[in-house]
Amino acid sequence: MSSKDWHEYSEDEILQANIEKYQRDDIVKFYEDFEEPRYTYIEYQIILAAVLRALRQKLGRPVRAVDMCGGAGKAAFIIKSIQPDSEVTLVDLSDKMLDIARQRAAKLCLDDLHIVEADAFSFLEQENEYDLFVYSSALHHFKNPVELLELSAGRMHPQGMIVTIADPTTLIKSRRYRFFQFLATNRETKRHLIKECFQRRATKLPAHGQSFDVAEYQTYTGINDHQLCQNLSQANLHTLLHLRYPAGEPYMTKIMPYLGLCWAFSTILCLHPDDYQADVQVMKQSIKSQLPFRIRFY
Ligand SMILES: C[S@@+](CC[C@H](N)C(=O)[O-])C[C@H]1O[C@@H](n2cnc3c(N)ncnc32)[C@H](O)[C@@H]1O
Repeated sequence: MSSKDWHEYSEDEILQANIEKYQRDDIVKFYEDFEEPRYTYIEYQIILAAVLRALRQKLGRPVRAVDMCGGAGKAAFIIKSIQPDSEVTLVDLSDKMLDIARQRAAKLCLDDLHIVEADAFSFLEQENEYDLFVYSSALHHFKNPVELLELSAGRMHPQGMIVTIADPTTLIKSRRYRFFQFLATNRETKRHLIKECFQRRATKLPAHGQSFDVAEYQTYTGINDHQLCQNLSQANLHTLLHLRYPAGEPYMTKIMPYLGLCWAFSTILCLHPDDYQADVQVMKQSIKSQLPFRIRFY
């Protein structure tokens, strides 16, 4: 184990950790199985539908979208299912993750999904312009999400949007969250966690000692989502909508909000919020009324 403290890792080291992690067969296998019915990801469907509707109305043509760090293409496939004529590019650094997407695209006879193997910063060096960037469960893999989103905005149509979804807030480090997460895990994981806890005590390692995963960089503390929005607004990327919600197993998501456990966040950003002033209430209403669990907008 490295003796480095977590904040000493550089963006390049985090990238390298991600390259290694997403080549591992056990990790890739999880994404191969992601259609399992217990993972519903209904928030993707609802949030992306609201965003695509607003973009389509504003632009008056098919939307050009990028699923950044898209892995097996969860967001990309949802976008295509909502607006089949949208032009979707799926970008990820892991060819194994992209292979899952290729197989799925073939099964669905989707031959117009552009698939690009690249890391996010390199992809953003190219000159193409897009209307929508989706970062799904992706921001926490970066040391500097503000820089990443700023660069994305530089490749975006002036009336485009950026959606971040399924990243953890700082709530994930609370005892309350960890207790309920423990209750919700299966017996095998519980056994593993208990064993890990006793090992840590025996070796007197700090709580984070064995479990810091450089690839999942921001999960060390969770992302301070409000601070992120403030920093982005200083970089001229404005928050149209920001919500916290209880992602995870469907039966847990029903009760989590009542326990104060809306631990995931989603942010919809744009360059000129005035362009979308009239749409914000409609988007809010549609998201709130369709999600099957309680959420909070900020
Ligand atoms: C937690 S997975 C999420 C995958 C997908 N977006 C989803 O929601 O299912 C994170 C993905 O980010 C990719 N990734 C991590 N760092 C990256 C980077 N710097 N550039 C491009 N992809 C990256 C990984 O290869 C992995 O597929």
